Amino acid sequence: MAQMMKVCIVGASGKLGIYMVQHALDRGYEVVGVCRERSVEKLDAFKGRITVIPGATNDRDVIKRAVAGCDGVLVVLAPMGVHQYASGTAQAVLDLARPGARLVFSCGWHITRDGKDVYSWKIKVLVNVVGRLARLARVVDLDDQVEACRRVFASDTRWTVVRGSDLEEGESQGLPVWSRHVGDPILKSNITQRVDFALFMVAALANDELVHEAPAIVGRKTPSALAHAAGK
Ligand SMILES: NC(=O)c1ccc[n+]([C@@H]2O[C@H](COP(=O)([O-])OP(=O)(O)OC[C@H]3O[C@@H](n4cnc5c(N)ncnc54)[C@H](OP(=O)(O)O)[C@@H]3O)[C@@H](O)[C@H]2O)c1
Repeated sequence: MAQMMKVCIVGASGKLGIYMVQHALDRGYEVVGVCRERSVEKLDAFKGRITVIPGATNDRDVIKRAVAGCDGVLVVLAPMGVHQYASGTAQAVLDLARPGARLVFSCGWHITRDGKDVYSWKIKVLVNVVGRLARLARVVDLDDQVEACRRVFASDTRWTVVRGSDLEEGESQGLPVWSRHVGDPILKSNITQRVDFALFMVAALANDELVHEAPAIVGRKTPSALAHAAGK
C-alpha cells in the first residue's frame, strides 16, 4: 500500500485520542482531529501541527469535512450519552470516508463479532449490571456501541475494530499482542497501557492483515502475554 499521508482522528480530544494524535504525528502523518467544540482547548499542545474541526462526531456535515482526502480514519467509539452518539459516528464515517480508506474503530472487549468470545464473570457483571445502571442514569449506553460495531462488521469498507482490555496510564510496553477471541489465555491479564492501545490503532492503519479483523488486545509485557511468548 502507498504510504499513508493524511489521517482523520474522530474523538481526538479524549485520552485515547490525544495519544493517537501524537503517534500519528510521530509517523509524519498529516492529522485532522474532530472533537466537541468545548474540548478543542484539550488539543492546544498540538496547535499549528494539526487541523481541528470542532463539532459533534455524529454530525454528518462535520465528518464529511473532516474525512475529505483522508487515507485513514481512526474513530473513538465512546459509549457516551443516549442519543445514538457512537452508532451515528460510525455510520457517518462508513458512509463518508473515501472508498478504500483504512478505517480503525476503538471499543472494549465486551463487543463480540461472532459470539465466540468467552467472558469472565467480572466482565459479564460489568456489562449487565453496571451497563444497565449507567443507561438508566443516561450517562453511558453500551448498546449503542454494540450497534455501532454491528454496522461496522456488516460494512464492506476496509475496517478494523480494536477491542481494548482494561486500561491504565503508564509507560509504553510497545505494540500490544492480540487474539481473535476473548477467553484466549494470552489475554488473561486484561490490562493495556492506554498509550499502547493508541499505538495499536495507529499501527493498524498500515497493517492490511488486520482488515476485517476485531483484535482483542492486551499489553505485550503482561504476565499472560509473556507466558504465551514463552510457550507456556
Ligand atoms: N476506559 C477503559 O478502561 C476502556 C476499556 C476498554 C475499552 N475502552 C475503549 O477505549 C476508548 C476510549 O476510552 P478512554 O477510556 O481512553 O476514554 P477517552 O479517550 O477519554 O474517550 C472518551 C471520549 O468520549 C468523549 N465524550 C465524553 N463525554 C461525552 C459526551 N457526554 N458526549 C459525547 N462525547 C463524550 C470524549 O470527548 P471530549 O474530549 O469532548 O470529552 C472522548 O472523545 C473507547 O472506545 C472505549 O470503549 C476503554
